[in-house]
Amino acid sequence: MPHDAAPRAPLAYGGDYNPEQWPEEVWHEDIALMREAGVNLVSLGIFSWAKLEPRPGEYDFGWLDRIIGMLHEAGIRVALATPTVVPPAWFYRAHPEALPVSREGVRWEFGSRGAICHSSPAYREAAVRITRALGERYGRHPAVALWHVHNEYGVPVLECYCETSAEHFRSWLAERHGTLERLNDAWGTAFWGQVYGAWAEIRPPRATPTTCNPAQRLDFARFAGDAALENFRRERDLLHHLSPGVPVTTNFMVSPTQCDTIDYWKWAREVDIVTNDHYLVAEDERNHINLSMAADLTRSVGGGRPWLLLEHSTSAVNWQPRGIAKLPGEMARNSLAHVARGSEGAMFFQWRASRKGAEKFHSAMVPHAGTDSRIWREVTALGRGLAALGEIRSTRTVADLAMVWDWESWWAQKLEWRPSDELDARERAESWYAALFDRHLTVDFAHPEADLSGYPLVVVPALYLTTAAAGRNLRGYAEQGGTLVVSCFSGIVDEHDAVHPGPHPGALREALGVTVEEFQPLRAGQTVTLDGGAGRPRLTGSVWAETVVTRGAETVWSYADGPAAGGPAVTRHRLGRGTAWYVSARLDVPALDAVLAAAGADAGLPPRGELPRDVEVVLRAGEHGRYLFVLNHTGTEAEVGLPAPGTELLTGHRTAGRLAVPGSAVRVVRLDD
Ligand code: GAL
Repeated sequence: MPHDAAPRAPLAYGGDYNPEQWPEEVWHEDIALMREAGVNLVSLGIFSWAKLEPRPGEYDFGWLDRIIGMLHEAGIRVALATPTVVPPAWFYRAHPEALPVSREGVRWEFGSRGAICHSSPAYREAAVRITRALGERYGRHPAVALWHVHNEYGVPVLECYCETSAEHFRSWLAERHGTLERLNDAWGTAFWGQVYGAWAEIRPPRATPTTCNPAQRLDFARFAGDAALENFRRERDLLHHLSPGVPVTTNFMVSPTQCDTIDYWKWAREVDIVTNDHYLVAEDERNHINLSMAADLTRSVGGGRPWLLLEHSTSAVNWQPRGIAKLPGEMARNSLAHVARGSEGAMFFQWRASRKGAEKFHSAMVPHAGTDSRIWREVTALGRGLAALGEIRSTRTVADLAMVWDWESWWAQKLEWRPSDELDARERAESWYAALFDRHLTVDFAHPEADLSGYPLVVVPALYLTTAAAGRNLRGYAEQGGTLVVSCFSGIVDEHDAVHPGPHPGALREALGVTVEEFQPLRAGQTVTLDGGAGRPRLTGSVWAETVVTRGAETVWSYADGPAAGGPAVTRHRLGRGTAWYVSARLDVPALDAVLAAAGADAGLPPRGELPRDVEVVLRAGEHGRYLFVLNHTGTEAEVGLPAPGTELLTGHRTAGRLAVPGSAVRVVRLDD
């Protein structure tokens, strides 16, 4: 179908709108300004429980009726929230036991937000009541385009260690393990005399004098997510019933820098559309890489389907050590980077900057400076830009390779008493991702047990916990002709944090054709040099090395110094129709690049092109056409060769051959195909 044959809904543009913080006169100005900016969707009511239900069972919907009506009249759609992240003060007065308890036994207090024990029956009941009331009243309202359940499950706190949670944990464990015998075996309770003789003896892994049972902690992390998921499902099912046809979501925070307690592989299956919130690490001068990684991960947890960026910031946030403002053009670049990687729009926290409360120094679409400001001018320009891109909707981002990521493995690796505190799964994933970003490759993330057969290259940056099924899957992928690249300290334990039998890396030994005789964590500041022989660069590693024995693999780089000197460092194993690489050291990004160049040749990946560093090129494609996004994160003009002539959608210019992209700017070319 040609790109202009079907009328297409616009990309979403808007943000969290909190009219309850403002007198009604301001609402009229809000609506006029939203229209000026091209806003077409706002998230409403996220924190409004106390205003909507001022006393138990007594509702005040008048204000919400009015504002939804005004928005509807202005043609602005509503992502209506259930406010279940902020139970009112009256609720906690009646149910202080619903406040969550920390691992150390501190009961968190009311006075901020998100203080919820997800196992609390009183909370569940109250949450269902307000959700039902909202669903009944607005479920068929024509302005309601999306249900936004709760807010960012997992942040600021997910786990609760109270007695009610303990009871809930025990029933969750009974379902997972079936018998006490199996639980004792899975948790290895023979160690340190922790054997349980009755279910009632089992507690959450509260603060202990020394390291707590790691399998118990891992199960508790799983349980905590499932307890919250039960609450999400309850609200979602109610809304599906009361509001047929309207999609239900909850905003994720997939970036491992922002939320580390939720297994989004699991949660993505539960929402009608994946939505995500992302905030830059302001201090990081190349923070656009972390953004791209988060966007790729968001798209991937949803199986590649288009998703929606529900929150980011127009400029500074208030909760980092320094509220560093965005530079001119940065906000649009951030927004369009998310769009390039699959988002169907760009939304912000929040519409109008608050005057009161904890977030008053957070940037907004309408800043304290008002509309005679750079932010406002950029907000209106972005609205026009997104309007010009409507035709890209439903196209999908095209990836070059896959990277394996697993929250459970990360949780397990982060527990205490690992061989090195400094070897961090998140850091490894970020470094490998940065090396791939610098090669201008687009990454899909994949669960370790997912079908990988469509990818020429699969990178496993950190998979300490590798189930037997995942080990088989990765091996099968390579045998069938794939190129697998596995990084250090992967394949070590099973789902119960038990070391796989035999030499490390138990779950990946056969695939990699090596064994690891001993881990060799390095001293603080110590580095190792890797020698690849003639024609290969010398590489540097830090933090981690291993004594590796090849058992079928060939040595590509070996340790030139350090505790494993003379031994294999990077190996390559041919198996079946493919190859499996093992990188036993913790390499810096330039060194990872060299490994990728070598493994990429096996995978048939194109060599690094002539694109300048920090010029991001991403393709979205669908039956309506192919769209090339070029994001110039540098301050100087960049030239990019185009695979075909086309039309640049933000400027409307025809373009062929080479495209010049001004410093800090974005161009989106619809390729003539
Ligand atoms: C998000 C949250 C918003 C707001 C924002 C500030 O995590 O969902 O409500 O607090 O952070 O950056």
